[in-house]
This record gives sequence, structure tokens and C-alpha cells, in this order.
Amino acid sequence: MTLPKSAPRTAATAQSASAGGYPAVRLRRTRRAAWSRRLVAEATLSPSDFIWPLFVIEGEGRREPVATMPGVARLSVDLIVEAAREAEALGIPAIALFPNTDPSLRSDDAREALNPENLVCRATRAVKAAGIGVGIVLDVALDPYTSHGHDGLLVDGKIVNDETVAMLVRQSLIQAEAGADILAPSDMMDGRIGAIRRALEEAGRTDTQIMSYAAKYASAFYGPFRDAVGSGGLLKGDKRTYQMDPANSDEAMREVALDLAEGADMVMVKPGMPYLDIVRRVSETFAVPTFAYQVSGEYAMIMSAAGNGWLDADKTILESLLAFKRAGASGIFTYFAPHAAKLLRTDPSKI
Ligand code: PBG
Repeated sequence: MTLPKSAPRTAATAQSASAGGYPAVRLRRTRRAAWSRRLVAEATLSPSDFIWPLFVIEGEGRREPVATMPGVARLSVDLIVEAAREAEALGIPAIALFPNTDPSLRSDDAREALNPENLVCRATRAVKAAGIGVGIVLDVALDPYTSHGHDGLLVDGKIVNDETVAMLVRQSLIQAEAGADILAPSDMMDGRIGAIRRALEEAGRTDTQIMSYAAKYASAFYGPFRDAVGSGGLLKGDKRTYQMDPANSDEAMREVALDLAEGADMVMVKPGMPYLDIVRRVSETFAVPTFAYQVSGEYAMIMSAAGNGWLDADKTILESLLAFKRAGASGIFTYFAPHAAKLLRTDPSKI
């Protein structure tokens, strides 16, 4: 391409000149050697990017494999403490705990969510008592505790918003009291962030962080998770009256804006890989810590293909995680956290 002689030499014109500038411009030059690819990499991945989700069960020394998530097991509290120690040793900053509540403790009113001795509260206290320096993220939602598997209270076949929010506020205070560093409301009720933030302020818990599952979609990719926490078989209907429609993107911007205005410190987009466009929009529009959740179904897809020898597990895992960073994520909830951290430790140039 030829430029008129008088054209000002701005960066933009230099770039457009070079766009057609072969052979002077050869983009393969910087790709030739591993050291050079590392030097020009726009995104990087490190164990500091990960939050490791863990499933908690009753008992001692118990490790119960999750059939739909090969390589993932539900752990008793003592083994959660071991996992937290492993996370710390691997440089993983935080873990997220999800309970598989005994069926006898699940009820219509989800009262076990308010029990200061419930599984996640006990696990949180145990990790803190062991003096382990990882952050603890606790989900705020009722689905592990309801007999119908919904995140909210069900009245006459409908999920009632404000009554649910009142429960979530009480659940939040109990979880903060147990030592949760980050409360992560995943319920998608309207107004819950503001209500929880106000209650925390009133309780003097001004330092408790809130990471809102701001743009959480009604997704089929959560299937294996519901199996892991034991709510899948119980769930009546679906969650489309509160979780977002996968068709929408502008609506995600409204959700995020509201949650930030109500006092969220960080926001999350979920699921992950099919929603990277939302991660990009949120991180660019709001410039706040934006997390993505590589959910159970995404984990299962990669593991089942790798298990059949159809994909190279390690390469696929690291590529999928790097893609979140490229899209603008500050960090990623991933069941691959310890494995990926080990891969990155052995050879940080792996990706
Ligand atoms: C519950 C919750 C879900 C997940 C995290 N918190 C499932 C759901 O909303 O049905 C999904 C995580 C995953 O699939 O890995 N509120």
C-alpha cells in the first residue's frame, strides 16, 4: 500500500502501512523461538490466577470421587485442610468451598444454611485454625440446603425474591462469622448484594469482601456440579426465572453495574469458556476485578475427551485457562487449579 507523501507519520498510519507491508513485515519473526514468544506474550498465566473449588462431606479421612468429574473428589473436613495446605504450597491464593449436605438436613426452608456448625462453616474454621494462608470463598445461595435444589425459597411453585434475600443475609453473616474472607452470592436474586453489604457494615464486618456472581447464566454446564453437591436429582424444573438467559449480553452489563453500586468488590462471569465475550465486555467496561468460573461441565468436557485420548489434557487445560486471561479475567475458578499450578511450576514457559 502506498501512502500519499504528505500523510502524517502517526502510529495509526504507520500501522496501516505495515499491515500490507510484506516482506518488510513478517509476523512470524517474533514467533520463531520460544524465548521470543515469551517476550511478546500479551497474556500470562500463573498459580496466582486460580481459585480452587472444593466439595465438602461429613466424616474423617473420606475422599469420595465425583463420577461426572474424573479426578475430583468430595473431601471430609480434615482432608479439606490438607487441600488448603496444598493450595498454599502451590501458590494458589484462594479456595472455594461447597457442601454436599446430608439429605436429612435439606428442607423446604433451607434452615441448615443458617447453622453455624454446617459443613462449610466447620471447614472454614478448620482451615483458619490450621493457620493456612489462603483466602476462603463461600457461596451464598440456598441450593445445597433446599429439598428442591433451588437457590431460593419456593412458594407456590415460584422462587420468592425478597424472602430469599433475607435468608441470604443471615447466611452471609454466619459464614463471615465462621471466617469466610470472600462471600460469593451465586443465587441471582435482585438486591442481594446491597442487603448483604448493609448487614455486614452493621455487624462491623467492614473487611469482608463480596465477589458477586453478577452475570450467572442458566446453563446446562452446571450438571456435574449439581451431582457433586447432590442437588441435581432433587431439582424441580430449572433456574431460568433467576439465572440469566444465555441470549443476553447487555443485561449482563446492567447486572454488573447494579452489583458494583450495591457494594460488590469483585464480579464474576459464569460459565467460562462459552461466555468469554461477556468476560471481555465486563472487564473493559468496568475495569474492576473480573473473575470467570470454568464450571464443572467445562471440566468434564476436557477430562472426558482427554480420557478417551482425543485431546492432550495438559495442553488443553493450560490453553483454556490462558484464554480467560486474554479475555481480560483477573482470575479463574477452576477445578484444574492444583494440576495447572504444578504444570506451571515445572515449566512456566509451557504455554
Ligand atoms: C449454586 C452454584 C452452582 C455452581 C456454583 N454455585 C450451580 C447452580 O447454579 O446450579 C456451578 C459450579 C459448577 O458448575 O462448577 N448456586
